[in-house]
Amino acid sequence: MKPVEKIKAPIRNEMELFESKFKEAMKSKVPLLNRVMDYIIHRKGKQMRPMFVFLTAKMVSNGGFHERTYRGAAIIELIHTATLVHDDVVDDSNRRRGFFSINALWKNKIAVLVGDFLLSKGVLLSVDNDDFDLLKLISTAVREMSEGELLQIEKARRLDITEEVYYNIIRQKTASLIASCTAIGAASVGADAETIEEMRQFGETIGLSFQIKDDLFDYTDDKIGKPTGIDIKEQKMTLPLIYTLNHCTNKEKKWLINSIKNHNKNKKRVKEVIQFVKENGGIEYTQQQMKNYQEKALIILDKYPESDYKNALITMLNYVVDRSI
Ligand code: IPE
Ligand code: IPE
Ligand code: MG
Ligand code: MG
Repeated sequence: MKPVEKIKAPIRNEMELFESKFKEAMKSKVPLLNRVMDYIIHRKGKQMRPMFVFLTAKMVSNGGFHERTYRGAAIIELIHTATLVHDDVVDDSNRRRGFFSINALWKNKIAVLVGDFLLSKGVLLSVDNDDFDLLKLISTAVREMSEGELLQIEKARRLDITEEVYYNIIRQKTASLIASCTAIGAASVGADAETIEEMRQFGETIGLSFQIKDDLFDYTDDKIGKPTGIDIKEQKMTLPLIYTLNHCTNKEKKWLINSIKNHNKNKKRVKEVIQFVKENGGIEYTQQQMKNYQEKALIILDKYPESDYKNALITMLNYVVDRSI
């Protein structure tokens, strides 16, 4: 069985019902908006966030479940989709999930408004059902995601990023939403505050390795359904580059900084930078850090009793670092 099939096996029905709720929540009376929503629905992603919601909900409550869990999963996927639509505007990226991005097809103006629409639909789904505890967890993540993306832009302009700042950026822009998945999963089935916090930390830890993996993809030519090699073009300093900058000679460092500052749109030069990072241990170091976080996440699961849900979560932790898209 493929890893994704194995992960989904204990939550097959939940994922099906989630899909219908998710689609329902995206409807609009405005024809243009409906066309864009239709386009998005037909190009779905890996849906790892709803899987995290369902599996944590089930693991902490021994298979228990609640209508709120579905809504939590739908809200998160709506907000995730909104942030991807906005992220492709911010990153000037023309591909997503193997197809054109929304900004590539409909231009930035429409993409910005479509992202806002999706975000508001997510919030309304919580408000209309009085899920205020879940809304609080999600709103914190949304605030952090915006802060993380802005911190990243600020650092891209100044090219003075440290590992510590890198971790702050990815904790905010990516790990916070995955942390809210696992926290919401637990909260939706009435777990106590301590368990919710523990699950939040679990999600945050695996979220860090998730984004490190995404940043590693950028250094490959893999067919992942979105552009690779664009981080340097966008002057986005990620861990492979940060490590290399801090472990090379002054002369090499000058060349790297000059390449990123003044030649970041030059494809040949960007390729040379990528090659330099590869030859100087940047990738190996980054892979090791990713695995350290995966290991830390695994340890958090230790104290939970054996179950199909826990096993599926363990498979998911491996999938986060081994996946090919
Ligand atoms: C992409 O997330 C954005 C990041 C946080 C790296 P996913 O890789 O989960 O995107 P989809 O939903 O599967 O397309
Ligand atoms: C993650 O950032 C996206 C968000 C957290 C919104 P990236 O810009 O690295 O994600 P991809 O690679 O475009 O999916
Ligand atoms: Mg991006
Ligand atoms: Mg990326």
